[in-house]
Amino acid sequence: MNLFNVYPLFDIVPTKANDVFVHDENGTKYLDLYGGHAVISIGHSHPEYVRRINEQVGKLGFYSNSIKNPLQQQLAKELARLSNCKDHNLFLCNSGAEANENALKLASFHTKKKKVISFKKAFHGRTSAAVAATDNTKIVAPINAQQKVEFISLGDIVSVEKALSRNDVCAVITECIQGVGGLDESTTEFYKELEALCKKHDALLIMDEVQSGFGRTGDFFAFQKHRITPDIISIAKGMGNGFPIGGILIHPKIEASFGLLGSTFGGNHLACAASLAVLKVLNDEELMKNTKDISSYFSERAKTIPQIRQIKGRGLMLGLEFDFPIAKLRKNLIFEHHIFTGNAKNPNLIRILPPLSIQKKHIDFFFEALTKELLK
Ligand SMILES: Cc1ncc(COP(=O)(O)O)c(C=O)c1O
Repeated sequence: MNLFNVYPLFDIVPTKANDVFVHDENGTKYLDLYGGHAVISIGHSHPEYVRRINEQVGKLGFYSNSIKNPLQQQLAKELARLSNCKDHNLFLCNSGAEANENALKLASFHTKKKKVISFKKAFHGRTSAAVAATDNTKIVAPINAQQKVEFISLGDIVSVEKALSRNDVCAVITECIQGVGGLDESTTEFYKELEALCKKHDALLIMDEVQSGFGRTGDFFAFQKHRITPDIISIAKGMGNGFPIGGILIHPKIEASFGLLGSTFGGNHLACAASLAVLKVLNDEELMKNTKDISSYFSERAKTIPQIRQIKGRGLMLGLEFDFPIAKLRKNLIFEHHIFTGNAKNPNLIRILPPLSIQKKHIDFFFEALTKELLK
C-alpha cells in the first residue's frame, strides 16, 4: 500500500528530538524554529511530559466519555487558572479543525442561524464548516461549499456590520493573529467593535486560538491583549505539545445538553495527561515570560538586517517578510545550516514558531546563518 500523496516532503527522517533540537537518522541535529507548525510548546520530549504520559499509559490510556474522567476536570481547572478564562466551560476534542467545527456548530445550535462571517486569508482547518470558513478555494470541496460564509477583509468593521445587520449570521470566526495567512492582526478597536456587534446582532464571536493560544504570543491567549471576551475560544496545537488534543472554551450563556456535542477520543486520559504536563511546565518554567523576552531579542536582531522589510506577529509567532520569495532561503537554512523554519501564504515570508523554551543563543545561531545566506 502506498501513502496517499498529499504532502510535499523534505528528504529528512527525524528519529529523536530534545527541547529545541530535532535529530535525524544520520545523526544531524536541526534547530527547530518551526515547532512542527507551532505545535511544540514546552520543548520536545520534556522530562515532565514524558514522565506524565508514561505514568498515565501504564495505568489507563483511554476509556469512554460515558464514564467519569477526573483528569478532564483537572485540565479544566488548570486551564482556567492559567488562561484566566474562569467562567468558560470546556469541551475536549482531538484537533484544531475539530475544535472550530464544534465551535461553529455550537454557534448555529445556540443562535439557530446558519451564516458565518470569516476573514480573508483565514485558515480554520479542513473539516466541513471549518474549511468552508477557510479562505482557500483549493481545499474547499463542493460538499463544503454549501455552507454560507462571507469573507471580509480583516479590519473592515463597516462590512462586518453590514453583514451582521441582516440577522442571519450565527458566528464571526477569526484568528486574532492570522497564522497561515501571514501574521496579520487588526487593532484593539476592531476587535472590541467586533465583540460589541456580535452581541448586538446575536451572533457568537469565535476566537480561533489553535495556533496563537497556550502562551505562544507571551499571553495565554492572543486576544487577551485586546481585552475582549469571546463567546467561544478554540484551542489545539500547543495544548498537547505534539499529543493530539483540541478543545473549545464555551461562554456560560451557551447551554449544554446531553448529546449536543461528542467525541470518542476527545479528552481521553492520555491526552489530558499530556496537556496537564504542558500547563505545569508552562507555569513552572515561566515560558510565557521567556516568550516575551526572546521575542524582543529576536525583533531587535531582525531590525538590524536591511533585507527584512517587516517583522510581523507577536511573541514566538513571528514572521520575517523579505522583498523576495523565501523558498530557496528556507531550503538553504534547512540543508546547509540545519535550521527548520516555516512558510506562509505570502511567498516572501518566513515563519518563526519555535518551542517556547528557546534561548538567546539559539536566536544568535539563526541570525548568523541568515546573515551568511543573505551575503551569498
Ligand atoms: C489557526 C488555525 N486553526 C485551525 C487549524 C487546524 O488545526 P488542525 O490541523 O489541528 O486540524 C490550524 C492549523 O494549522 C490553524 O493554524
